[in-house]
Amino acid sequence: MGFKEQIDINRLPEHIAIIMDGNGRWAKNQGKFRVFGHESGVLSVKDIVEGCVDIGIKYLTVYAFSTENWNRPVEEVNALMELLIATINQEAETLNKNNVRLNAIGDLNSLPEKCIQDLANVMEITKNNSRCTLTLALSYSAKWEIVAAAKKLVKLAVENKLSADEITEEIFAAQLTTTNIPDPELMIRTSGEHRISNFLLWQMAYTELYFTETLWPDFRREHLFEAIVDYQKRERRFGKISEQLN
Ligand code: FPP
Repeated sequence: MGFKEQIDINRLPEHIAIIMDGNGRWAKNQGKFRVFGHESGVLSVKDIVEGCVDIGIKYLTVYAFSTENWNRPVEEVNALMELLIATINQEAETLNKNNVRLNAIGDLNSLPEKCIQDLANVMEITKNNSRCTLTLALSYSAKWEIVAAAKKLVKLAVENKLSADEITEEIFAAQLTTTNIPDPELMIRTSGEHRISNFLLWQMAYTELYFTETLWPDFRREHLFEAIVDYQKRERRFGKISEQLN
């Protein structure tokens, strides 16, 4: 039996977050340039989005470019930006066909102008799609996001629209880039690294973490289904004891 058949569709995670890692090593293993790994990684993104649409995952968030990735050699940064622009434009039609809404989080203003415009365009033409929301984390880091949220709260306080005592977890979360998106129940990181790397720190307070040795360009929907089956075997207690559940 394949992993898909083992999934309990009544207990699907609503939101899956992925750190797509290992593109560079995958390319190097074949004696190719790193960019070839990123290009191949796009095929994985496409297959995983379709896998999510297929089984009914409502939110998929992928870490496509971190704040720290700006420190990579300029040629690689440029290649990633061009790949991003080409991919969102090429995939706009398929996103619509699959009823997928494109969303983006991060310090988007720091992206190249063309990237900002094309992202805005594809987000606009997919905005009414409701089967799945694909969020690209771009120039994103969780510490950046949390500081930005704190700044917004201070501004509200200065304008006398909010007092310190009124700040709750809900109000804080509403200032984050993930407003209106539920916290991920499952986070997958490929390529054998066991780190969070500044991804969705607030949102992952209770997320189940799944690590696999598979490099991102080799990751396909069957691997995703395997991760979901693993997730469904876990008991999520949220600080309670086993007997208190249900
Ligand atoms: C990590 O591999 C991957 C990235 C930093 C970029 C991810 C980008 C893509 C998959 C392509 C663009 C995405 C979209 C959504 C169009 P790495 O370079 O850190 O690999 P390494 O750890 O082996 O060096």
